[in-house]
Amino acid sequence: MSDTYILGISAFYHDAAATLLRDGQIVAAAQQERFTRIKHDQSFPDQAVNYCLEEAGISVDELHSIAFYDKPWTKFERLLETYLMFAPSGFASFMKSMPIWLKEKLWMGEKIKLETGFEGELFFPEHHQSHAASAFFPSPFEHAAILTMDGVGEWSTATWGFGRGNHIELSHEMRFPHSIGLLYSAFTGYLGFRVNSGEYKVMGLAPYGEPSYVDTILDKLMDLCEDGSFRLDMKYFNYCQGLTMTSEAFHELFGGPPRKPESLIKQRDMDLARSIQEVVEEVVLRMARHVRKETGEQNLCLAGGVALNCVANGKLLRENIFDEIWIQPAAGDAGGSLGAAQFVWHQVLNNPRIVGSSDDQQRGSYLGPSYTSAEIQAWLEKEHCPYHKHTEEEVVELAAEALSAGKVVGWFNGRMEFGPRALGARSILGDPRSPDTQTIMNLKIKYRESFRPFAPSCLIEDVSEYFELDEASPYMLLVAPVKQDRRKELTEDERNLVGLERLRRQRSDIPAVTHVDYSARVQTVDPNISPRYHKLISAFKRKTGYGLIVNTSFNVRGEPIVCTPQDAYRCFMRTEMDMLVLEDLILHKREQ
Ligand SMILES: [Fe+2]
Repeated sequence: MSDTYILGISAFYHDAAATLLRDGQIVAAAQQERFTRIKHDQSFPDQAVNYCLEEAGISVDELHSIAFYDKPWTKFERLLETYLMFAPSGFASFMKSMPIWLKEKLWMGEKIKLETGFEGELFFPEHHQSHAASAFFPSPFEHAAILTMDGVGEWSTATWGFGRGNHIELSHEMRFPHSIGLLYSAFTGYLGFRVNSGEYKVMGLAPYGEPSYVDTILDKLMDLCEDGSFRLDMKYFNYCQGLTMTSEAFHELFGGPPRKPESLIKQRDMDLARSIQEVVEEVVLRMARHVRKETGEQNLCLAGGVALNCVANGKLLRENIFDEIWIQPAAGDAGGSLGAAQFVWHQVLNNPRIVGSSDDQQRGSYLGPSYTSAEIQAWLEKEHCPYHKHTEEEVVELAAEALSAGKVVGWFNGRMEFGPRALGARSILGDPRSPDTQTIMNLKIKYRESFRPFAPSCLIEDVSEYFELDEASPYMLLVAPVKQDRRKELTEDERNLVGLERLRRQRSDIPAVTHVDYSARVQTVDPNISPRYHKLISAFKRKTGYGLIVNTSFNVRGEPIVCTPQDAYRCFMRTEMDMLVLEDLILHKREQ
């Protein structure tokens, strides 16, 4: 029997992406932004689709079907109903969104056929079904509870239910406009960061602040129930009827207009970040406890944009509400393409799921394009870029040597990651022991706000030596505390520092990855999933005694993570990176 190929697509909201399945197995998955170089590109993912087909070596007419990650007509109905509810005050935003709906979004089926040339069957699972499918079907669990939380899909903003075998069922939902994702985004916008992209910054800023606004948020903005569901008081928000997230009443409540982007971050901003982070954690914990109780399941699968809040995830894990948690690494809308396709394969076509080992089906999320050393070498020759060719053993030795000498290394290896995190395929690496690494990497390499911490990639076998974590975190979606015995006592003066002043105090023997609250966003590196990356960190350990390195995504501020060797080379040349490793080839900045 011939192979069955299903293509999943997400597009037109944020993070357009494509995923291709062969008999239910993920062959390829990638976000459109990596090809177009437009961050969070939401346009139809034609380049991502082409890549997926190329990777499988098939043409579009060999597809069994295409699955789109939501139901455009239901979404449109929500838009109309919301407009009517607030009419006439939402007229401006309504008129702004109408042309694209009437021109493109409503005729999604036609659009997909036109863009791809595909004539076969199309499926449109619901938005949260796509999220839930992306959380459960690739997970290592035979059965589990499922919780999805995001901004909004059609109407749902959070859902829960369970997955069993090849079937998922979402029995409960919370509906627009009451939304944990939109609440967090409202604060993101108010704090002067970009909605749908700056949420990470709010999370990174939170540990500098005090939770002094938690009561105000809980008393005024929302009505939080024991089961984690809530209603927002919409007089404080403007996203139903306006072009902004928050209303004048919101600004009055928190003492002023939104912070201007790039302006000085004040203590109040940090306190607000800390407060909304704590509220979100409380909501997530309440929802999880409720879902545990109601489903009786021991394991939990998570997806939706809120599942990228790795501080909340870490807390959820430490509360031991569930035995194990699996989080879709592309938890945002990009992962909807994967979920939609798997929903069709398992739930619609009723194909069995093969579960049996402890491994998930996500394969380290290394699901994007790769390039051979020979291809890269040919390009470097053509461009007259000086390089050195090595064996794998030499590559890891030389890169580890450079890292141990405090150099910053661009590391390009194997297939690109699917999802927002770099996991050692497209990463910039540094020495976690140096107190200068954080400043150097933030200001000279990433060109971004210096308050944001870096994450460690740690040998899986060593993780509990450094962090209070004794399980795998292959997708860097969990935050865990740095071990007590690694922490450094601060002096009385250092303890009294406030706000960003606290940044440059050395808090442990791995200061570059220790946040001000002694937390770290950990990636565990497994030799079976990331062999060369594991060898590199092992070589670093032989030289320094430390089985972990600093890992940040291979890009500069405002740019998507690099995809091709050419992208990597450009980024290398634009920054003060010392060394670039492209598969088996090494480039030194001083020789360029
Ligand atoms: Fe979503």
